Amino acid sequence: MAIATESTSPADAEVRAGTHDGATLAADAISYDDLYARWERGHWSATELDFTEDARQWREQLTDFERTAALWNYAQFFWGEDSVADNLSPYIDAAPLPEQKYFLATQQADEARHAVFFKRFVQEVCGLGDGSVASGLAAIKPQLTPGIRTIFKRLDRMADELRVNRSRPQLAAGVTLYHFVVEAALAHPGQHMISEYLERREILPAFTAGMRNVALDEQRHIGFGVKLLADLAREDTRVPAAVARLLHEVLQHTGQVLMPPGWDERYVSCFGYTFDQVGGMGASSLVARLKAAGLAPEQLPGPPVMFAGFTPEEVARRGRELAMAGITGVREGPTKRDPETVALLFNTMALTVDPKHGLSRPTTFQYEFVDPDIATWHLTVDNGTAVAAEGPVAAPALRLAVAYQDYVDIIGRRLDPRRALVTGRLRIRGNPLGLKKLVKVFPQP
Ligand SMILES: [Fe+2]
Ligand SMILES: [Fe+2]
Repeated sequence: MAIATESTSPADAEVRAGTHDGATLAADAISYDDLYARWERGHWSATELDFTEDARQWREQLTDFERTAALWNYAQFFWGEDSVADNLSPYIDAAPLPEQKYFLATQQADEARHAVFFKRFVQEVCGLGDGSVASGLAAIKPQLTPGIRTIFKRLDRMADELRVNRSRPQLAAGVTLYHFVVEAALAHPGQHMISEYLERREILPAFTAGMRNVALDEQRHIGFGVKLLADLAREDTRVPAAVARLLHEVLQHTGQVLMPPGWDERYVSCFGYTFDQVGGMGASSLVARLKAAGLAPEQLPGPPVMFAGFTPEEVARRGRELAMAGITGVREGPTKRDPETVALLFNTMALTVDPKHGLSRPTTFQYEFVDPDIATWHLTVDNGTAVAAEGPVAAPALRLAVAYQDYVDIIGRRLDPRRALVTGRLRIRGNPLGLKKLVKVFPQP
């Protein structure tokens, strides 16, 4: 089994030429003053919603499983709203302009309101907690998915990093995580799914009204993120690399965000959706916002941050397959090791080759596993293509000997390849120059 992938797009050079040299971006249609004015006009109250009818319908009109699935889904939101409310203040300090600081202050008030809204629903409708935010969070914590845990832990760390480093590249990484990944890629599709099925089934009226307002607030937040990132990129040439680094680090965890117990898809299908529909909405929302900020994925430096040539739904499916196999994300057991999983691993690797590797001749790397049940594979990199295939070749530039699980952990960023080399868990055979070539093809962040 082999696949070829075009590493460069024909429009690449054109797009690159115009982006931050005074070209007009979609972000330019957004102004900080307008965003602020929209916030003043858009006030709503999370404490005045009356959940009495919602509580009756929750008991009488939803099935046991629908209640379980909905609570699981809303738990992720409650946790997220609390985290974004807590972690926004260093962004206010790091923002260069007063107008940016003022908008971020309004956003922090919004996020607190969203957390109060979910806290009230969880307590008054689902009967969890004693009415305090802390008791509500403690009650839903066991429901959090590995993707949500990892990404919000990263947001905690990002806030700490911003407290000591207020540079534009650091703020750009922070905005990429907060406004682009958390709000545009994760929250936006979830809100769309929830609002759509609530309105279609005409249930939970107060929750529906609140979700509509949450979504309007989030639209403003995401618009602000797009505008801020575009401005930061114009002001500092280090921004695109900072954005790419953050996306490489975090996107591999998005495959485990929509991960119900036992990967049971009924948690979303009972509301009329599939995993990949929701994930596809997230991928397409992220790409659209990056483009609007003048930082389309294919324009970012380094290896591709998303699989080039894939539709958003294909991106989501691949991310989910990698997570389900135990290749990416938090590994909860051994990685699957059937031939299809090994093929998935190598075919995905071929998609992540840095197109600017600079190698002038076709170069082949060979992977020899110490496990007798795992076949040897090789990866050949040529100008614009990278092809992975099963079996050995005659004269590879480099041979790597490694245990299968260690190698998967390197790909899943759970094991540092430099550490694996030093400790002998990853051994190389052949010309040491081959290792330099491998690093060019898969540069380490
Ligand atoms: Fe929010
Ligand atoms: Fe938000």
